[in-house]
Amino acid sequence: MAIAAAALLVLLIGIGLLLFRSRKGQRSGGHLPSGPRPLPLLGNLLQLDLQDMSRALLTLSKRYGPVYTIHLGPRPSVVLCGYRAVKEALQDQAEEFSGRGDMPFLVRINQGNGLFMSHGEQWKVLRRFTVHTLRDLGVGKRSLEQRIQEEAQCLVQELARTQAAPFSPTILSRAVFNVICFIVFGQRFDYEDRNFLTLVGLITQNFHLLSSQWGQMYSIFPGLMYYLPGPHNRFFQNFKQLRLFLLEQVKMHQESFNPNCPRDVIDCFLLRMEQEKHDPQSYFHMEGLVITAHSLFLGGTETTSTTLWSGFLILTRHPEIQARVHAEIDRVIGRHRSPCAEDRVHMPYTDAVIHEMQRFTDIVSLGMTHRVIRDTYFRGFLLPKGTNVIPLLLSVHNDPTQFNDPDTFDPAHFLDERGGFRKQAAFMAFSTGKRMCPGEGLARMELFLFFTTVLQHFTLTPLTRPEEIDTSHQRGECGYKPRPSKFCAVSR
Ligand code: HEM
Repeated sequence: MAIAAAALLVLLIGIGLLLFRSRKGQRSGGHLPSGPRPLPLLGNLLQLDLQDMSRALLTLSKRYGPVYTIHLGPRPSVVLCGYRAVKEALQDQAEEFSGRGDMPFLVRINQGNGLFMSHGEQWKVLRRFTVHTLRDLGVGKRSLEQRIQEEAQCLVQELARTQAAPFSPTILSRAVFNVICFIVFGQRFDYEDRNFLTLVGLITQNFHLLSSQWGQMYSIFPGLMYYLPGPHNRFFQNFKQLRLFLLEQVKMHQESFNPNCPRDVIDCFLLRMEQEKHDPQSYFHMEGLVITAHSLFLGGTETTSTTLWSGFLILTRHPEIQARVHAEIDRVIGRHRSPCAEDRVHMPYTDAVIHEMQRFTDIVSLGMTHRVIRDTYFRGFLLPKGTNVIPLLLSVHNDPTQFNDPDTFDPAHFLDERGGFRKQAAFMAFSTGKRMCPGEGLARMELFLFFTTVLQHFTLTPLTRPEEIDTSHQRGECGYKPRPSKFCAVSR
């Protein structure tokens, strides 16, 4: 292992020299905040624990303050730590900080298409399209709510089938995937459908590859890692398969397409393609469609299902909290009708538990890298146009000026003295500012409906004593991934 690491280091230094010369977008000038002294080419790589990148960046902020510069390889990024710094940048100077930073994985597969990686006019057009399409397809409305309620019932049946034997998180993933399948393809799949399981497997693996150590090495040294063997290459092989699957779906849609009655995201996109077919500058073309569909799967599945899974795991660790949620469900909803979105306002404790689940688990703990779209003055520094910015969401959710005792899972972080739900400005699971997650409304509806429906029917029980359950995240992931775990759903 040590030899492999040394060999990798030598390779990095050698080939990094080439990268250093050729790397586009390398900026000079400006007045960046200080930070740990970088080594040539490697930057601060040796000072960072790649197995726990977001914690490592948080630790550095104790020494260098809430705004500092880190070199990931040769390129500097400005790290924002704590609620104030993130808010002042992403909210108060929202336009300046609205660019998307380096994310080489997505750059390579997106080829200039799609919402995640676009900038300027293209980003505005695609963002508007995504938000409007999600709304037109029922996000925030009764129609989609009913679809999620039905999916939640399928999930309950699936859990009942386990007969209180331990189950794995894939059961939850399938329910969440089906919601995105419904939005993108206009249909749900049987949980055992072969194509469906392939789709779930490929997206899930890619989501975790993005935040794995190999993924981070690719993000830092894309030019070099492109030529090296390793698990990161799996991401691109998976994407090739996904692309074919998505193209197949598009072909089926084209055969039954009716411009007067768009059924789902694919139809809405096909409609725009039709309307703009004479415009050579249009962002609506076949590759754009594939990437848009892929972005919704990548952004909208593992995030939601991992939140649910880790939330349930936490409840097995805290049976007293689970008992209070059960009591609130029984009082407000009862056992004989499905939970609906309107119930949330009458269920402050459950709402607080779900928010605390999101705060505590920090699924996107590093945040997604931003970039300043013009030379930007910030807290006395001058960030040249194109500077990468890392809004460290973990640091916002662990900011002791915003949350008492942030290391503890405590729904009271979101409750007032009278037990009512209390909004927290520092709750940024979906980030904040112009690039804030466009799927927030959908994710919140799913989290509430799946969470309450499962707990209406089941008590979640651990396989060990509750105090032995480890709810910390798995090393080697810069986003949150719970440790491999199983628990049981016992009918109530
Ligand atoms: C619990 C669930 C979710 C969490 C925690 C989450 C979190 C995030 C975060 C932190 C970002 C980065 C925002 C930034 O750049 O500052 C993001 C972006 C994004 N999310 Fe989500 N998300 C979730 C669910 C969803 C869903 C359901 C969808 C789609 C239906 C979605 C689609 C996207 C897209 C397309 C972007 C890129 C937006 C852009 O670059 O303008 N997400 N999300």
